[in-house]
Amino acid sequence: MEKASHILTRILLGGKLEDKLAGAKIPLHEIEWDTPAFQMPEEPGREGNLKPVSSKTAEKNAFPKKSELKNDSARGKLLHFFANHELLAIETMAYTLLKFPDAPLEFKKGVMKTIQDEQRHMSLYLDRMHEYGVDLGGVSLNLYFWNILKTMRTPLDFVTRMSLTFEQANLDFALEYAKLFEEEIADEKTAKLLRVVHDDEVKHVAHGLKWFNEWREPNETEFDSYQKLLPFPLTPRRGKGGSRFFAAQSRKDAGFSEDYVLSMKVAGGSRGKVPDYFLFNPQCEIESQVSLSVPARAKIADLAPLMLWLAQEDDVVELPKKPNLAWLSEVYDLKGELPEMVYAKFGEAVPPSAGKYIAFEELKPWGWGESAWKRLSEVKEKLRKPPQFSKEDPLTKFFSKAWWKNELKSRDAEVFGRVLSSEKVFEEWQSENAAPEDRFLLKAAVSTSGRGHLEFSKAMLADSVLTEKIKKRIQSEGSVVIEPLLKKKIDFSIQYEIFASGEVKFEEPRFFLIDSHYQYQGALLGNWGGGTRYETEWRLIRENLRSIREQHQKAITILKEQNYVGPVGIDCLIYEAPDQMLKIAPLIEVNVRFTMGRVANEIERALGRKGGQKQAFWSMVNKSRLGPGDLDREFQHWMPTTPFEDAQSTWSVVIWDHSILTEGKIEEFIRKC
Ligand SMILES: [Fe+2]
Ligand SMILES: [Fe+2]
Repeated sequence: MEKASHILTRILLGGKLEDKLAGAKIPLHEIEWDTPAFQMPEEPGREGNLKPVSSKTAEKNAFPKKSELKNDSARGKLLHFFANHELLAIETMAYTLLKFPDAPLEFKKGVMKTIQDEQRHMSLYLDRMHEYGVDLGGVSLNLYFWNILKTMRTPLDFVTRMSLTFEQANLDFALEYAKLFEEEIADEKTAKLLRVVHDDEVKHVAHGLKWFNEWREPNETEFDSYQKLLPFPLTPRRGKGGSRFFAAQSRKDAGFSEDYVLSMKVAGGSRGKVPDYFLFNPQCEIESQVSLSVPARAKIADLAPLMLWLAQEDDVVELPKKPNLAWLSEVYDLKGELPEMVYAKFGEAVPPSAGKYIAFEELKPWGWGESAWKRLSEVKEKLRKPPQFSKEDPLTKFFSKAWWKNELKSRDAEVFGRVLSSEKVFEEWQSENAAPEDRFLLKAAVSTSGRGHLEFSKAMLADSVLTEKIKKRIQSEGSVVIEPLLKKKIDFSIQYEIFASGEVKFEEPRFFLIDSHYQYQGALLGNWGGGTRYETEWRLIRENLRSIREQHQKAITILKEQNYVGPVGIDCLIYEAPDQMLKIAPLIEVNVRFTMGRVANEIERALGRKGGQKQAFWSMVNKSRLGPGDLDREFQHWMPTTPFEDAQSTWSVVIWDHSILTEGKIEEFIRKC
C-alpha cells in the first residue's frame, strides 16, 4: 500500500517533473487514505524549467494563432500551453486532497483518478511537443489556476472552479483543436491526442458536476448556483473556450441540464478587458420632461435586447429582464460571444450583479438623458472615462435641433430652414417670399422620433388658428425649427463614433424607412447598388460621398469641441428638386446618441460574417399584427433581432431573402407590421 499523503505531498512540494508525475501508475485500491496534518504552501514546488515566469515576461510567449499552426514550432508551443494546464491541474488537485482530508472517500478517489489522467495527458503532450522540437520550459509557465484555486474553502469551491470552469472550458479547447488538427492541418497524431484529452475531460467534468449537485443549494438552478459560487474575477465566460466554438454535446455528455448548457452558451463576461457598461434609454431626449406612458415603457423593454448587438463580448449590458435562452442562442449563432447581461427594471438602481466589477471603461447609454446621468452617479467611482461635457450639454445643445441649426449655419454647412426663436422672427419669416403651395415642416427644438412635427403649406398660414398655434409653441418651447418640406425620395443615414482618443470611426451610408408619423420603421442593410430598386439613389450617394462626409465633418468638429465622446448618427435624405433633379440634403438631423441605424449596422455586420445574401431588411414589428408563423410563410431567411416570446408589443426582425428585392415587397411588409 502507498500512503496518499506521500504521493500528494511529493506532487505538490517536489520541484521536478518526476515529482509531478508521482503515483501515476499506482492502482487506486493500493492507495491508503491517511489524513496527516499538512502545512499548505504559498506556491507549488517548482525547479529548473518548471519555474513559473511573471506574467509580464510571459506576454512575449503569446498563444499561437490558428493560422500559424502550419509550422511545427507553433504546434509545439500550443501543446506547451496545454501541458501547462495539465501541470497546474495535477498540482491543484493534489492540493485539494491535502487540504480537505475529510471529504467523502468516493470524491477523493475520483480526484485521484483524475490526477492520474492529467499525468497521462501531461506525458502525452510532452512527448508530442518534443517531436515538434519544443521541450518543457520552452515557453513560459504560469500559476493562473493555482492562484484562483488556492483561496478555495470547501471541496464545492474546487469543483466549481476547477471541474466546472477550467475543465469545462477545456471541453471547447480540446475539441476545437482536435477538429482543427483533423480537418485543416491533417495531423492525425495530435488530433488523436486531443480527442483522448477531450473524452477524459468529459469524465472529469461529469465527476465535478456530480459533487457540485450534491453540495450546492438544491433550490436553485444549476446555472444560478454556478454563477453565485464563482469568485471574482471569474465569470461563467471562463468556463468556455476561446470564441465562437461551443461544445454543447460534450457538456450534455458530462450530464449538464439543457438549461445550463444554453445558459453557458450565451454567457458573457469580461476575460480581462475592463468592460463598457451599456444602458438602453431611447427616451433620452425627452425623459426629463415627459413621464412615459405604460405602452411606451413596454416598447422600450421590448427593444432593450437590441443593445446586445451593439456591445462587445467583454462588455456589460443592462436589460430590464433576461431574454429567453432560445433567442439568445440564435443571436450567439449569428454574432458570436455575447456580452454579460445584468438586470434592472425601469427606474431601479444599478443591479447588484454589476457590483462585482471593480472598474468600467465607459458608460455607454443610448444617449445622455436623465437615466444615464443617474447611472453615472451610481458607478462614477468605478468609471475610468467619465464624460467630459456637462449635464446640461445634451439638452441645451446636442439634442437641440435649434442649437444644431445655428451651429451648423455658422460654419456654412448645408442646412435648410431656420430657428424661430420668437414671435417676431416668425413674423419676419412669414413675410419672406414663398409660393402658396410651398410646404414646410415645423419641429420642436428637442424631441424624439417625430414628436411635435407639424406639416403645413404657406397658403395654410392664412388661417389664424394655425399661426396662433405656432406662436403658442414658440412661447412655450422657447424656440422651434422650421424647414422647407422637401419632396423626399428616401432617407439615409451615416453612423459615426467619436473615441476618447479623438479618432472617429464611420460606417457606410444606409437607407432607412420612416412612417408618415416620422416613426422609425427599419433599415435596408447591405449594398443596394447595381440592379436593385434603389440603384439610382445608391449611385447618387456614392458619387457624392466625399462632399457628404465633408458636411458631416462639420458636425463632428462641433461635437469634438464640446468634448463629446460616443456615437453619432447623421440623417440625410434624397429629394426631388423643383427642376426634377435628385439632390442630397446631407444634414437633416444630427442624433448625438446611438441610433437604430447603428444597431442596423451591427446586425448587418453579424449577418455579413455568415455570408449569403448581400441585401437585407431590418424592421420593427407589431407583435399583435405579425408573428413568427407569418414570417415563415413569407420568407425563407429571417431571424428575430429581439425576442418575440418576451415582447409585450414590439419585436424586430431581419430578413435576408431574395424576395425583398421585389418592387413593393418591403412596403407590403411594412403595411402589415
Ligand atoms: Fe487533462
Ligand atoms: Fe481534466
